[in-house]
Amino acid sequence: MTKEKIRGLIARMSLAEKALQLTQLRSDFYPAPGAEAVPTGPFLEADLGEEELYCAGSVLAGAGAEAAAALQRQYMAKNPQGIPLLLMSDVIHGLRTVFPIPLALGCAFDEALAEEAARIAALEAAFSGLHVTFSPMADLARDPRWGRVMESAGEDPFLNARYAAAMVRGYQGDDPAEAGRIGCCVKHFAAYGAAEAGRDYNTVDMSEGVLREFYLPAYKAAVDAGCLMVMTSFNTVFRVPATANPQLLTGLLREEWGFAGTVISDHTAVSEVMNHSTAETGEEAARLCFEAGLDIEMMSLHFHKNLAALVERGEIPEEKLDAAVERVLELKNALGLFEKPFKDADPQREKQLILCAGHRAAARRIAGESAVLLKNDGCLPLATDAGPALVGPFAASRDVLGGWSVFGRTEDCVSLYDALKGRGIAEPPAWEESRVGIDRALEHCRDSGIVIAALGEPSDDTGEAKSKARIGLSAYQEELLCRLAAQGKKVITVVFSGRPLILDKAAEYSAGLFMAWFLGVESGSALADLLYGEAQPGGRLAMTFPRCEGQIPLYYNHYNTGRPPKTASGMGEAFVSAYLDTPNTPLYPFGFGLGYGERRYSAPRLSSARMAWGGSLRASVTAANPGSRPQRETVQLYIRDLSASVVRPVKELKGYRKIDLAPGEEREVSFDIPMEALSFVNGRNQTAVEPGRFRVYIGPDSGTDNQAEFVLDAPEGEIR
Ligand code: GLC
Repeated sequence: MTKEKIRGLIARMSLAEKALQLTQLRSDFYPAPGAEAVPTGPFLEADLGEEELYCAGSVLAGAGAEAAAALQRQYMAKNPQGIPLLLMSDVIHGLRTVFPIPLALGCAFDEALAEEAARIAALEAAFSGLHVTFSPMADLARDPRWGRVMESAGEDPFLNARYAAAMVRGYQGDDPAEAGRIGCCVKHFAAYGAAEAGRDYNTVDMSEGVLREFYLPAYKAAVDAGCLMVMTSFNTVFRVPATANPQLLTGLLREEWGFAGTVISDHTAVSEVMNHSTAETGEEAARLCFEAGLDIEMMSLHFHKNLAALVERGEIPEEKLDAAVERVLELKNALGLFEKPFKDADPQREKQLILCAGHRAAARRIAGESAVLLKNDGCLPLATDAGPALVGPFAASRDVLGGWSVFGRTEDCVSLYDALKGRGIAEPPAWEESRVGIDRALEHCRDSGIVIAALGEPSDDTGEAKSKARIGLSAYQEELLCRLAAQGKKVITVVFSGRPLILDKAAEYSAGLFMAWFLGVESGSALADLLYGEAQPGGRLAMTFPRCEGQIPLYYNHYNTGRPPKTASGMGEAFVSAYLDTPNTPLYPFGFGLGYGERRYSAPRLSSARMAWGGSLRASVTAANPGSRPQRETVQLYIRDLSASVVRPVKELKGYRKIDLAPGEEREVSFDIPMEALSFVNGRNQTAVEPGRFRVYIGPDSGTDNQAEFVLDAPEGEIR
């Protein structure tokens, strides 16, 4: 539809229709096809008349091609302007073919896999009748107490940004109106992951420099990749709720970044501006959020109830209202909904695609790349005749999808036992969190020298409003490991969780330790492939694993402080930034992971010890596998700016390369470092580069000390 026709539509809309076009309801507000809109439940609570229902611009929808088509048919028949309804939903890591949780996918250090998973999710979602997904979630996550770390790609801005852009490409392709593509909505803008104490919805407060340097890059990468929408976050930014924050939504997003798409609030976040106490009434909340730059109010009705009056009183110019309505109609236009209101809703194609063999195979392969091998004393990979006993709460559990698998079904999942029973592994005993559960498990293991202990946290402990102050394994699970180890068993612990857990005891008692996260529908198959060496463990941690909760927040790209300890741990050193009772070092650092082979790195070689201003240099290493098994290695490049006008992190990830090294193989790996890679946010909150000394690290994880230095020369004629 042309812009003129869209503007012609707007000219025919009443103020009430315009305000409703900026309102998102839930699809269960709408009666089943043919039924009357009986004012019960949400319909009644919302005090909406039927005519208003059919003017709301979008819905938070369920999936299902038939239901979507029926809803659209009914809506189009009743909308006074013939405007199509927009169906949006949370397809976060797959629709029915559920992939690993995004935090696990981040551990693959391979954004191509994220793009592939998003592509498949878009196919299943589009043919199930959905138009837009509320993904990618691009919140930088440093605090494992926060339940939503599972939705992010972890603690690093560089990795997060590459994943966010890849997912936008996977969902939208070159044209989201194309069959099998959906629009996407990057969230939660901004810095929702920095909730104090890891407590969901809690206060976020940070300097603009930290916000720009660490928290904004991934959102910007999604915007630059062309995502159609941005969702505001529940939290405050600079002491103003993000949803009512003009500095964020207009100054930064629209004016500085040039975002021309649609901004939607998170669920009832407009109402919550009153809880934040920056608005006393719904009308004030509506005005503040609208003036800040919000286009769509999700699941609260302050726009509906107040915008028309605000315009009639001249407090909001009607042109601004029209501009917001135009953005929403242009969003629908970009998805082709005016020409094809049913877009791709197709029950037959939906049935063919959902959980098809190709999608399951991709899910299994991607899951295998997302698990992380944390410890191996040589007991892995298992020999085919190893015959381990299998115990623990996740031994036969199909509850392996993790949070935000809205459309996933546990019956679609392959449990660890499902995958192992074909290898002669006995059915595990039912687990219960008690001494009885432990005794039953120990009895089951009595005649086995090798035990696979499938432990972790319930999948329902992950996701929104699932913050935890204690993030260890349960006491019963740790006691099981302790008693198995005391019996001299070789214990291979496989940990299922949506967050880094405190695994110090699990590491102590286990001979082998896999971080299995929640790997999606093919969890069991992927883990069995890894345990028996039919797939190579290549995952690397996208989040730091602390030794205890007291260290949190603990992340690799921290500042040096004025009193850094001389040793990494800091233990026993006086008057330095350290604890009396715990090392500063994590249990496992960002980027850590093992393969079944070995790895050796040469010292980094630099193409030059000086980089000319505006120039670049090449950093290389020789990576070798002196072991007797193949090694899947992720070579990681970090850079440290040794002196600048503001403090700089001790390391920053600037590149990674996944390689397969055969036993005995050596491979040169090189990274080109342009001067732009040295940029940072200076004290005036501008992106800048400053000449001086830099250190290059190339190694297997963020703890590497394999380094070389270079100097960036000042611009010609400038004396430093
Ligand atoms: C939730 C989440 C958001 C989600 C939205 C719609 O509260 O914060 O991520 O997309 O509501 O379900």
